[in-house]
Amino acid sequence: MRTLVFAIIIGFFVGCSGPDKTTTLSPRDAFIDSLLSEMTIEEKIGQMSQSTGSWETTGPIIADSSTLDLVRTGRLGSFLNVFGAERTRKAQEIAVNGSRLGIPLIFGYDMIHGYATTFPIPLAEAASWDLELIKKSAAITALEASAAGLHWNFAPMVDIARDPRWGRIMEGAGEDPWWGSQVAIARVRGYQGNDLKSLSTIAATAKHFAGYGAAEGGRDYNTTEISEHTLRDVYLVPFQAAAKAGVAAFMNGFNDLNGTPATANKFLVRQILKKEWDWKGLVVSDWASVQELTDHGFAATDSEAAGLALEAGCDMEMVSKTYDEYLIDLVQQHPEYLPMIDDATLRILGVKYDLGLFEDPFRYSDLQREKQIVRNNDHFKHAREIAKRSIVLLENRNRTLPLDPNLRKIAVIGPLAEDRETALGTWSAQGQQSDVTPLLQGIQLAVGEKTKVLYAAGSEINSTDKSGFNKARALAKQSDAIIAVVGEHALMSGEALSRSDIGLPGVQLDLLKMLKETGKPVIVVLMNGRPIAEPWMYENCDAVLETWLLGVQSGPAIADVIFGSYNPAGKLPVTIPRSVGQIPIYYNHKNTGRAADPADRYTSKYIDEAFVPQYPFGYGLSYTTFEYGELTLDKPAFHRGDSLSVSVVLTNSGSVAGEEVVQLYVRDLFGSVTRPVLELKNFEKVLLNAGESHLVKFKIKAEDLSFWDKNMAFRSETGQFKVFVGSNSATQLQQEFELLD
Ligand code: GLC
Repeated sequence: MRTLVFAIIIGFFVGCSGPDKTTTLSPRDAFIDSLLSEMTIEEKIGQMSQSTGSWETTGPIIADSSTLDLVRTGRLGSFLNVFGAERTRKAQEIAVNGSRLGIPLIFGYDMIHGYATTFPIPLAEAASWDLELIKKSAAITALEASAAGLHWNFAPMVDIARDPRWGRIMEGAGEDPWWGSQVAIARVRGYQGNDLKSLSTIAATAKHFAGYGAAEGGRDYNTTEISEHTLRDVYLVPFQAAAKAGVAAFMNGFNDLNGTPATANKFLVRQILKKEWDWKGLVVSDWASVQELTDHGFAATDSEAAGLALEAGCDMEMVSKTYDEYLIDLVQQHPEYLPMIDDATLRILGVKYDLGLFEDPFRYSDLQREKQIVRNNDHFKHAREIAKRSIVLLENRNRTLPLDPNLRKIAVIGPLAEDRETALGTWSAQGQQSDVTPLLQGIQLAVGEKTKVLYAAGSEINSTDKSGFNKARALAKQSDAIIAVVGEHALMSGEALSRSDIGLPGVQLDLLKMLKETGKPVIVVLMNGRPIAEPWMYENCDAVLETWLLGVQSGPAIADVIFGSYNPAGKLPVTIPRSVGQIPIYYNHKNTGRAADPADRYTSKYIDEAFVPQYPFGYGLSYTTFEYGELTLDKPAFHRGDSLSVSVVLTNSGSVAGEEVVQLYVRDLFGSVTRPVLELKNFEKVLLNAGESHLVKFKIKAEDLSFWDKNMAFRSETGQFKVFVGSNSATQLQQEFELLD
């Protein structure tokens, strides 16, 4: 069968060098055009269909016939959840040698924080503010995946999340559009490199397009109502960044966006993504989201669902089978579907071509390479590097941390201290619990030989049972310091894992209060997939480390910070609320006509809760201290086409070396639509020795100040602005400037 495909290739190239010299098609486009011309309508629809392997499911199972028969008859062009050099080779052989045209399959999988080597969850990595290391995690993921026969990653997830009740906040880069864009670009470039044909790169997917993180009530899959201004100024920003970075695929969201489900949303996909952004990749539905158009009440039948999804630019249907079952009949009544089917098929063939699958369909399914590359020590070493940089120091009263590794006795108390499953987090792909070094072990490996490490779970993660308190109390009383490891189980964040309350589950808060009563220093190590609202913990314990879910090297990375071999520098990519009642709460909010003022009743605030968060976006402490000098502008005003220089001297005023993430925000004081009180526009991560100073310089250009104005034009507006620079979004170090025409 391959001869047919090669015949197409040879025939084409001969044709190409024939008399007609005006052919301007690239070899890629000429090849896929030529292949398309050989395909039947059934084979085109086959390319638009993706089934899941039975080895793993990541959604409700759709009963189906033998999928390999569909491959043989050209009615299936892709699998998800089929991985491993051997398995993929077997399935590929059927496609390439068993079907009429021998078009190779493309294998996709969810590897949002690693394939076999599990890195910190994406939200944790976003706290590192280290784009090179974030990119490296993605590159290693691609290296391992491509050695295991995989071609396509359903990542990065770039949904903006402003509601921590939503379990999928753990999958993204937090609440900010600008930072979310930088992280999206780093991850796309890490997965795809400069050449998808390279053996160590795979196609990436920007998901879930779009607005999925705005689910009402933080309840997964729920309705989203987003104005076009907010959609374009907030939720679409990281998607456009990923598109500009050349991401190969987009994935529809499950959500109903303003009355039209994302999977059937022409405005989103045909108008914005494919027309305005002129993006040429493939759009895949999310698990059965095409068929779910009937559940939305947007399609009366599966057949109608297929038509609506196709019309809206969904190129490949994941798992549900409406394209396979209905498009053939639909094109009889809707001949206008034929060019849509051709366009979808070309987009899919284009990604397969870019991956080099037509040259060698088996290139990624190499058993030897798989054995050499997957899970090697260098990957685990990187896992520790990025994990320790993802840790955020939230409190450190009386310089409790770092601990002396030669303390006589350390009590490690808490249900998560040796929980390997939780360290991996959800969406851990082929990460194995046996690969995890949990915190208890990390501490035992880090302390001196004379130090005794005592351990008790104290409680379960999420039960009312306090029977373990007595043993925990007894150990704590013997110790010189208590490391309390509390938080959420892995399966309390991720898909379909929203929480109505975001406090510590079970009796963990009571456990902390009991430990505090012993009078010993209490160092809290939080392990969680979302911000945790727990004022007493933050305000009464001696030190608090936000460690998220840090992957295979969780234990050593946290121990590196606890004992000071690494000075923490993480900064929050999300706001931490004081209570669930404050949600939604995020830093780049609007001012309202009555901004919160404690002294004035008639302003926007609560009578029973503060209006400020526990910790603001961008917050994080260090074992040293940093001082900011005067904020200096090189001019009070600048014209479009020019730029403004902003500079500040940063000094490490403490006693140890440390890194500071210097953040730059702007505020547009007046606009044709209301503008946020603050918007992150740049940052610089600076390493300074004790006593050292450094001049930090930024440039602001007119395009940095652009937004979607009252006429839905993307532009900056002249007028007064403020610029803020500091250690987090609550900084008051500011200057005013003016943008002139
Ligand atoms: C899931 C998720 C999506 C994932 C897909 C395939 O339901 O929403 O993020 O990529 O199905 O597993």
